[in-house]
Amino acid sequence: MSIDAQILMALRSAKNGGVSGADLSEKLGISRAAVWARIEELRALGYDIQASPHVGYKLVSIPDVLHADDLRSRLQDVKVVGRDIRVFQETTSTNDVVEKLARDGVKEGAVVFAESQSKGRGRLGRKWVSPPGKGLWFSVLLRPNFHPLCTTQLTVASATALVRAIRSQTGVQAEIKWPNDILICGKKVAGILTELSAEIDSVKYVIIGIGVDVNLQNSDFPPEVRNIATSLQVESRRHVNRADLATAILREFDIDYGRICAGQFEKVAEQWEQQCSTLGHNVCIRVGDRTVYGHAEALDTDGALLVRTQHGHLERIIGGDVTLEK
Ligand code: BTN
Repeated sequence: MSIDAQILMALRSAKNGGVSGADLSEKLGISRAAVWARIEELRALGYDIQASPHVGYKLVSIPDVLHADDLRSRLQDVKVVGRDIRVFQETTSTNDVVEKLARDGVKEGAVVFAESQSKGRGRLGRKWVSPPGKGLWFSVLLRPNFHPLCTTQLTVASATALVRAIRSQTGVQAEIKWPNDILICGKKVAGILTELSAEIDSVKYVIIGIGVDVNLQNSDFPPEVRNIATSLQVESRRHVNRADLATAILREFDIDYGRICAGQFEKVAEQWEQQCSTLGHNVCIRVGDRTVYGHAEALDTDGALLVRTQHGHLERIIGGDVTLEK
């Protein structure tokens, strides 16, 4: 871990609110002058660190920037998701960056964030607007040992993780529209793009791309989605710190990924069913060039949606575009 990350970690866990330069110097094995120089660097990045003779250095507030070392230092406890974090100022799409990492053999759990994306993409070939500094645009590399058909479990897990993290960080209760939209009061606040490389019966790697509209204003959205999109800032009426939200999401996702790998998808599904606004509704689902009408009854063990069709039989849907019917 870098010196900066260690300093931030020590400041965060300081019991009486501060840490002396001497303690930091001893802990990190560097001179007090070197500690001071690093503190100055952190201040230049926007970390508000006060220094006083009695309390020592004290972390007062953190800036709304994504700092790989800092994120990593806050995720000491994760088993897989977030154990390797990379932050780019700009990329085409974080899914593309992660795909390259995957082909280069990088271990699962790596996460790539971008402050902005020039070619952010959504499902069904849609564009995903990703303005600088206003959202969380990131992708997670996973290498689960399961059948490609189970990949929907990961989309489901990331959706429930998002709902829990949004709740803990903003107090806002979001809901899930199967399989990958996160809504607040019926408007979309986050989306998940799951991409996969697989053999016929085994997954090589999965990329979970997540976009969260954190501090966007209504005017930041393209006119065509202004009525159907929202942001956490708009809904909670306060600025949301992206680093806090990012660490909360990754920690929650890591827990659910652990459950899935341990064969306990039902625990994830249970939560998902409570948070999902699709279940119990009549739905219209576009699956390729086919349209399925029916009643969304439950989630199958692999994450598929079980829909009782107009003709009375139960159809398993593994992907599609859902509209709620009256
Ligand atoms: C959707 O709802 O259509 C999915 C949107 C997914 C957007 C995220 S932002 C990070 C990652 N990189 C991309 O290009 N897309 C995903």
